[in-house]
Amino acid sequence: MTTTTTYDAVVIGGGPGGYVCGIRLGQLKQTVLVIDKEEVGGVCLNWGCVPSKALISASHSYEKFAKHGPTMGLFADNVRVDTAKMQDWKDGIVKKLTGGVKALLKGNGAELVIGEAKVTGPKSVELKLADGSTKTIQATKAIVIATGATTIEIPGFKFDGKQIIGAREAVSLRAVPKRLVVIGGGVIGLELGGVYQRLGAQLTIVEATATLLPGVEAECTAVVQKRFIKDGAKIMLNAKAVGYDKNKDGSVTVKLDVGGGKTETVETDMVLVAVGMRPNGANLGLEQVGLTVDRGFVPTDTFCRTKVPSIYAIGDVSGMPMLAHKASKEGEVVAEIIAGHKAAKDWVAIPGAIFTEPEIATVGLTEAQAKEKGIDVTIGRFPFAALGRAMAVNETDGLFKVVADKKTHEVLGVHIVGPSATDLISEGALALEMHAFLEDIGLTIHPHPTLGEGLMEASLNALGQAIHVMNR
Ligand code: NAI
Repeated sequence: MTTTTTYDAVVIGGGPGGYVCGIRLGQLKQTVLVIDKEEVGGVCLNWGCVPSKALISASHSYEKFAKHGPTMGLFADNVRVDTAKMQDWKDGIVKKLTGGVKALLKGNGAELVIGEAKVTGPKSVELKLADGSTKTIQATKAIVIATGATTIEIPGFKFDGKQIIGAREAVSLRAVPKRLVVIGGGVIGLELGGVYQRLGAQLTIVEATATLLPGVEAECTAVVQKRFIKDGAKIMLNAKAVGYDKNKDGSVTVKLDVGGGKTETVETDMVLVAVGMRPNGANLGLEQVGLTVDRGFVPTDTFCRTKVPSIYAIGDVSGMPMLAHKASKEGEVVAEIIAGHKAAKDWVAIPGAIFTEPEIATVGLTEAQAKEKGIDVTIGRFPFAALGRAMAVNETDGLFKVVADKKTHEVLGVHIVGPSATDLISEGALALEMHAFLEDIGLTIHPHPTLGEGLMEASLNALGQAIHVMNR
């Protein structure tokens, strides 16, 4: 039976874009229905950002105890890993967070339903529930597409959920493979490859291009690459995975195209394919209402609006970068617009946080990107090794790098590789949003002894005034 229900707004997708949009719409006294075909929270809460960070933190603690404890005079005998218990702990965090999101939606008056949605008109959606029944939902003001992205499968590597897996399976392994090949030296490959390396797997990273994390500041990726190798990983660059054979002993032989007509092979027990995500814009009925879906992306303007004025798109499905915090911000912007307020995508820069060992965090232009734009830049650097606090936490690999306009001293980019880089970057993001100058960061008193002093010193270094390092 089909029944019709009417809301001010219907949000399709309950990830960090959709649920934030729903909460904000509720706060703004709009009636809203958030629809998700799985659990609320999307990739981020259920098998992406949060679960992976839990495993990263647990494996990091293990490594600190097992490997680095003795350097600091700490001896904990028989430190061992119970992967299944670690997974249960991680699942508990996910449950707590998705439960929290449900409570926040409800508390703000937003409704949530699990079901599959299809757009049937500029202001109408067909909702199919698990029992097979359908409902027509009318949106008096807007429909928001927040359907996210899905892991890409590449030819020759069909996921079998056991030996050939994607990120979704990789955050739920209940045993550590002896050998792991990661295809793709991008964010997911390095974050999850790092987890299982720290937990004892022999890791090989296969990357098709000439560098890990293409597009990220090269001085940062160099530090991470060095650490992976120091910890025993094999990194194969300019190597494209093209297929695999299953062997009689249960192992897998991965075939690589290494250029020049040459091939190489790597034997392993498990393959994690992490070669990117495809946006989920197809099969939503958008073409029928006059929208063009571009390789899965739903094109939008600075107001997150599509060519159909009542339909908006936010998050991964609306364009790069595919980051949860970008999706959430767009969710807030759209909610404000639907409620009749003035809002737009007017930010200066979106920070990026990569949870490798050590962490990388960036905001704004890299030195190369600034130069490509024809900007005359000045650079400031400061190594973690020169920070008392970094020595005290026994994590001295890495550096702060500040990119600024040589003439005006306006800060254009901040790039950090080192301990807590992902927390430290927020100061850089604030600096860019406020169009800060090197002097603004350099003359601000930063507490001692903290890791944050590094950004102050790097800014001063660009001015030739850093205290704890020789200036150029
Ligand atoms: P990615 O785009 O970051 O990296 C994929 C890598 O795979 C590229 O370096 C590419 O050159 C390589 N590649 C492609 N085909 C290959 C082949 N046949 N053989 C070898 N290498 C190959 O994609 P990833 O890591 O899957 O992440 C997906 C999305 O998730 C990203 O857009 C990222 O923004 C987001 N994400 C962000 C995180 C963060 O910010 N901390 C964490 C996890 C995901």
